[in-house]
Amino acid sequence: MLSFTHHYQPPSAPGAPTLLMLHGTGGDEHDLAPLAAELLPGAGVLSPRGKVLEHGMPRFFRRLAEGVFDLDDLRQRTAELAEFVREAGEQYTFDPSRVVAVGFSNGANIAGSLLLLAPGVLGGAVLLRAMVPIVPDPLPAIPGTPVFVSNGRVDPLVPAAETERLVALLHAAGADVTLQWQSAGHQLVPGDIAKARAWLQTLALTS
Ligand code: MLT
Repeated sequence: MLSFTHHYQPPSAPGAPTLLMLHGTGGDEHDLAPLAAELLPGAGVLSPRGKVLEHGMPRFFRRLAEGVFDLDDLRQRTAELAEFVREAGEQYTFDPSRVVAVGFSNGANIAGSLLLLAPGVLGGAVLLRAMVPIVPDPLPAIPGTPVFVSNGRVDPLVPAAETERLVALLHAAGADVTLQWQSAGHQLVPGDIAKARAWLQTLALTS
């Protein structure tokens, strides 16, 4: 029995990549299925529902206030999600080395945490409207891991300096980071999807 309520769709060909879709606060496992199909048609889709409820809204970890995270909870939930991805790989027999996370907002933050606290679980990540989830000491080594960050220039939740701090942190850990700014706030715009889709197409991992 896998430990998260989730949606799974096998890839169209054995060995094709799997997108780990991670929703924002208040979303669920079905939210990002259409986005997965747009970003990488034919990819497998593994989409868990966050287990933390904030006023009834699912999230992937607790927060103390907007943008202030409960780091103990984040560590525990990140380990739990990493275990889920490993177990799902065994159960559904997808290639664990070809899992690329696509996270929006709270989902992007747990994806960032997976990169930093559970190195090796993700082959790459698309982080949409992401913040710095945690600053691990020591930093992990994730050399060459491809990460695409797409944030909004006028996002009331994520100031530009926060985005730059995130990019610097991932870069210091060795990730190969691409930053894309959108003329947008916290909500996604068509440019996020077009740019993320083009970036995914450049990855050896997803070809
Ligand atoms: C978070 O709590 O992860 C961020 O504030 C984004 C959000 O979910 O609103």
